[in-house]
Amino acid sequence: MQAQGRLLTGDRPTGKLHLGHYVGSLANRVRLQDDYTCYFLVADYHVLTTAYENPAGIGENVRELVLDYLSVGIDPERSTIYLQSLTPAVSELALILGMLISVPRLQRVPTLKEVVRDLQLDTASYGLLGYPVLQAADIMMVRAHIVPVGRDQASHLEVTRELARRFNELYGQVFPIPETLIGEVPTLVGLDGRAKMSKSLGNAITLSEEPEDLRRKVMGMYTDPTRLRATDPGHVEGNPVFQYHDAFNTDTAEVEELKERYRGGRVGDVEVKRRLIDALERFLAPIRERRAAVAARAGLVEEIIADGSRTARREAAETLRLAREAMGLTYFAERQ
Ligand code: TRP
Repeated sequence: MQAQGRLLTGDRPTGKLHLGHYVGSLANRVRLQDDYTCYFLVADYHVLTTAYENPAGIGENVRELVLDYLSVGIDPERSTIYLQSLTPAVSELALILGMLISVPRLQRVPTLKEVVRDLQLDTASYGLLGYPVLQAADIMMVRAHIVPVGRDQASHLEVTRELARRFNELYGQVFPIPETLIGEVPTLVGLDGRAKMSKSLGNAITLSEEPEDLRRKVMGMYTDPTRLRATDPGHVEGNPVFQYHDAFNTDTAEVEELKERYRGGRVGDVEVKRRLIDALERFLAPIRERRAAVAARAGLVEEIIADGSRTARREAAETLRLAREAMGLTYFAERQ
């Protein structure tokens, strides 16, 4: 099939990906691999916006992230997986884009306030304030048309779109205005019933979760708090256990039947959870197996990163050339 355009998205290497990432963005990535020319970015510089004092673990997390990508079916033969810090032209584009947006505009980005609050920072660094500008540079560097992300990233994509429009207005048409693609389950609730599954909240099931941990976590899940006995009528809506059934149990007849019995007080929470464990196990087992298979191939991750980053550098150089040309920054030429 002819590619319809370019797709870019990525993650910060901060640890293993979880089910929330899968439904928010990974499923879309895997599905769209044949329709778009895809770039999957490992955003290690973005990690520094908060972890600059302690960058020691980033390398290992890069590896884990790439293994997660491969295990869900991102295919390096078809898609480019690359490392941000091996693509320095992105930082150069970010520098240019930084001129096109005001400080108050960046201060209004809601995720900034959240990070400052959650990490109890006195104030945001220049780098943290510029987080969405660097993200815009990632996206614009490959002149992406579509960006699949979780809902929490929507405000960053708005900044990207503004920057692309502003650049084009000032200097001529160089960048597509990228579209945000949010997954079918834009925000997956946490195991504890809190709004969002998140590693830092400790309410997540990772894509490489071992069967024992999976069991324990599901059995401890928050469910309908108003229900004291299996014979009490239960609430399905807003119940995390059923939200996970909806998102991951492909046996829809079973899910419908469980919901009906739950509403009628004819099934206990333990059985609903057991069936969820089985459904999640059917989903996770092949992912876990593929992860083990690729992890066993020495040097594979390193090779994928090296090859992908070479491709990304080529794209980045071309985009930067187009941007500089549009801006008229061609008064002196580089010499080797
Ligand atoms: N900010 C994204 C996150 O935390 C990661 C990211 C960096 C990204 N650059 C990107 C996502 C470009 C999409 C496109 O998940």
